[in-house]
Amino acid sequence: MPGSVLVIGSGGREHAIVRQLARSPLQPSIFAAPGNPGTALLARNVALDPADAPAVVRFCQNEGIDLVIVGPEEPLIAGLADHLRHGGINVFGPGAMGARLEGDKEFAKEVLHAAGVPTPRYQAFSSSETALDHLDTMDLPVVVKACGAAQGKGVAVCATRGEAEAFIRECLDDQRFGTSGLRILLEECVFGPELSVLIITDGQDYCLLAPSRDHKRIGEGDTGPNTGGMGAFAPVLLPEALCEQIDARVVLPVLAELRRRDIPYRGVLYAGLMLTAHGPTVLEFNCRFGDPETQVVLPLLRGDLYDVCAATAAGELGGFLQQFPAGDSDPQHWAGAGLSEWRRRCVVVVGAADGYPGRYVNGKPIELAADRDDAWIIQAGTRDAGDGLVTGGGRVLGAVGMAKDLERARGLAYELLAGTHFEGLSYRRDIAAKGD
Ligand code: GLY
Repeated sequence: MPGSVLVIGSGGREHAIVRQLARSPLQPSIFAAPGNPGTALLARNVALDPADAPAVVRFCQNEGIDLVIVGPEEPLIAGLADHLRHGGINVFGPGAMGARLEGDKEFAKEVLHAAGVPTPRYQAFSSSETALDHLDTMDLPVVVKACGAAQGKGVAVCATRGEAEAFIRECLDDQRFGTSGLRILLEECVFGPELSVLIITDGQDYCLLAPSRDHKRIGEGDTGPNTGGMGAFAPVLLPEALCEQIDARVVLPVLAELRRRDIPYRGVLYAGLMLTAHGPTVLEFNCRFGDPETQVVLPLLRGDLYDVCAATAAGELGGFLQQFPAGDSDPQHWAGAGLSEWRRRCVVVVGAADGYPGRYVNGKPIELAADRDDAWIIQAGTRDAGDGLVTGGGRVLGAVGMAKDLERARGLAYELLAGTHFEGLSYRRDIAAKGD
């Protein structure tokens, strides 16, 4: 019997999840709460507030929802998955204990240390005076992080002492991030290419989705302030030895440490890695799918996203994964390699509003290029104005291209973006340009 699934959230990540669910041969009924105009093309958008857990539980019980997939971190950190599980609903997403890995960066560091997983050295502070004293003992550049979740804006890589001092004061004195910034980490800066690894786990078994690379800075050549992500590609093709290191040095010990602490985890754990000269090191954890990584990782799935999420939510991932043995040409040391397609490449380029990640103006009419089989638009910050689509966020949309080689996939994404218009549309021209 076809199931029914509710996707929580309203961004590009959620449109990408809904798009993938809509391709399921099971043809589940799909709901999105609150969704966006992109999800409305494939699902029924429901005017539910993800922060109102009792209302979400009631909706699921009344509609007979079989599975909830929670997109953003805020409702997970607030315990929405716990409320749903108590209400008898299967959920893809960790409870509040697991989501603390994203909601409390100091806690994540403690878990990493206990697990013996490489991560940059750090110290935590609640007072700007002591933080500034410690800053004087650190090499530049230095990384300053708000401990709480701050919608991707709570991290600054500071090249000068002045920049670091300004960000420390914004967090601790001016309370720019509210309670999320009342405790901060000062962290050593490490160097190398970044890698996003999405670990699907039910707490016992796990698999890794195709590795991807986000482009976090606003400017070409990785310049300017950090954003939520300006584009991504997948898979990043890695040497077998590195796949083995990621598994042995990061994934296995972290999952074992969660079990040792009796922290249940059913969902996706996103490990943000830096591939340093000394091996992979963990920069951060997120308790949900990456955005925009999801837009390029899900189209590469060989399996059905509905099945993957339902098996994870039910604690039956191990049995499910047996259907997807790795092929001879798949990476042999990438756990769950058989679940992803490695001979295709997928690229997303984010089209942002002029001014993002600073101030920008909403309400600009949007003209979308038509989707094709190998290139499509994922909507993020869009709004239905009644008489047409208008901008309604900083990252407005993503153009996705998929092809056998990276260059062609990039070309498809950029072609689609060239046919998409709104006043102030801006995007990086160098997404995936460096290849692997
Ligand atoms: N792409 C970065 C994130 O999802 O946090």
